[in-house]
Amino acid sequence: MQKLIVNGGKTLRGELSLQGCKNSALPIMAASLLCGEECVLNNCPELTDIYSASRILNGLGSRCRFSDNTAVIDSQNISKTEIPENLMREMRSSIIFMGAILGRTGECTVSIPGGCELGPRPIDMHLAAMKKMGVDIRESYGKIICRVPFGKAHGAKISLPFPSVGATENIILCAVTADGETVINNAAREPEICDLCGFLRACGAEISGDGESRIVIKGQNRLHGCVYAIMPDRIACATYLSMVAATGGEIVLKNVCVAETEPFVSVLEQTGCSIYTYDDRIYLRSGSRLKAVKDRIRTMPHPGFPTDAQAVLMSALVTANGTSVFEENIFDCRYRHTDALVKMGADIQVLGKIAVIKGVPQLHGANVEATDLRGGAAMVSAALSAEGTAEISGISHIDRGYEKIEEAVRHLGGDIRRV
Ligand code: UD1
Repeated sequence: MQKLIVNGGKTLRGELSLQGCKNSALPIMAASLLCGEECVLNNCPELTDIYSASRILNGLGSRCRFSDNTAVIDSQNISKTEIPENLMREMRSSIIFMGAILGRTGECTVSIPGGCELGPRPIDMHLAAMKKMGVDIRESYGKIICRVPFGKAHGAKISLPFPSVGATENIILCAVTADGETVINNAAREPEICDLCGFLRACGAEISGDGESRIVIKGQNRLHGCVYAIMPDRIACATYLSMVAATGGEIVLKNVCVAETEPFVSVLEQTGCSIYTYDDRIYLRSGSRLKAVKDRIRTMPHPGFPTDAQAVLMSALVTANGTSVFEENIFDCRYRHTDALVKMGADIQVLGKIAVIKGVPQLHGANVEATDLRGGAAMVSAALSAEGTAEISGISHIDRGYEKIEEAVRHLGGDIRRV
C-alpha cells in the first residue's frame, strides 16, 4: 500500500497546467460507445478511474488505448453488453455506461452499485428515466438486466426530482440515438454535462439547452467519430488554489475554464486572497493568515458551491482567522475527512449536514488515512500547511482523480514523496 509523506511548512509557488476533467472524461468515454467509428479524446487525464472506464470499454469489445493524455477509442465492434461486478465496484460511476450501452445495443446488464464512501448512492432516478424511455428493467440477485423490447428506446418527457448529474448524463446517452425527442426538466447544469453534450454534438447528435435546466435531445439514427478535447478540471483547480492559499503562496494556474470556476473562486476570494483571471489563467496570491468565510458555505447543484470542493476549501479554512460554517446539501456522508484534520490539530464540530470550523493558528503533521477522493486531497493540502511530517495512507482514493499529485505539488515547491 503506497503512502504520501509530506514535510509541511513550505510555501507553494509557481505555475501549473491543469489536468483534464475526470468527471466529463468518464461519460464521454461511455458516449464513445454510441459511435461506430474511432473517437480521439485529447486532454484526457490519466487516472485510475479513467483506466477503469477503459477496462469497461475493452471488456465490451471496444479498443481503447492511451498515450500522452490522448485516448483513442474504437467501438466499431461491440461483443458484450454486460459490465462485470468487479468493474462496477471499482468505479461507482460506471453506472453512466448503462445509457450508452442501451443506446448502442438495446440491452445491458450492470450490477447495483452499493453504498460508497460518500454514503448511499441510489440510482432510482436513472432507472425511472430509462423505464420512461421504454426500457424493461429486471433486478435479479444484485444484477440490473435492461432490455429495450424493439431494440430502440423512445423519447420521453422526464422531470427529475433532483438535478442529478449521473441521471442527466444517462438519459442524454440513451436519448441521442433513441426514436424521437426527449425533454429533461430539472436537468443538472454542471459544466461536465455541457462537455458531454459538446462531444456528442461533434459526433452528430442534436442536443440543445445543456447548461440550462431544460435539455432537449432529438434522437439520431447513428453517430460518427470525432476528435475532441476534454475540458479542464474545475475541482482540481479548486484543490490547487486551496493548497496554495493554505500555505500562503502564489500560483498561476494555466489551462483553466475560468467561467466555470466562479462559484468556488467567489468564496475563496472572501478569505482575503488576491485572485485575478485572464484568458485561460487564474492567478492567486495569498499573503498573511487567511480570513474565515463569513457567510455559510452551502454546497448546491451547479451554479452553487460544488460539493466536490467542500473538503479542499475546508483544509485551507482550518487555519483561517475566525469561524467558517459549511452546510453539505448533496451527500449524506461527506465529512469523513474532518477526523483526520482534527488529528492534525483542527477545531471542527460536525452536526448532521453542518460543520463549524474554528480557525487555529497552526496544524501539525500526523498519520492519517484518506477515505475518499476529495477528502484525501484535503489531507494533502492540510499536511502541506502543517508543521512537521504527515503520512497519508489510502492514497488510491486520491489517485482516482488527481494526475500525479505529488509531481504537481513538488513542482510548486512542496516537500512530498510517494513511498
Ligand atoms: C457526480 C460527480 C460527483 C459529484 C456529484 C454532485 C461524476 C463521476 N461524479 O456524481 O463527483 O460530487 O455529481 O455534483 O461526475 N441521487 C438519488 N437518486 C439517483 C441519483 C442521485 O437519490 O438516482 C442523489 C445522490 O445520492 C446524491 C444526489 O442525488 O445525494 C446527487 O447525486 P448526483 O448528482 O447523481 O451525483 P453523481 O452523478 O453520483
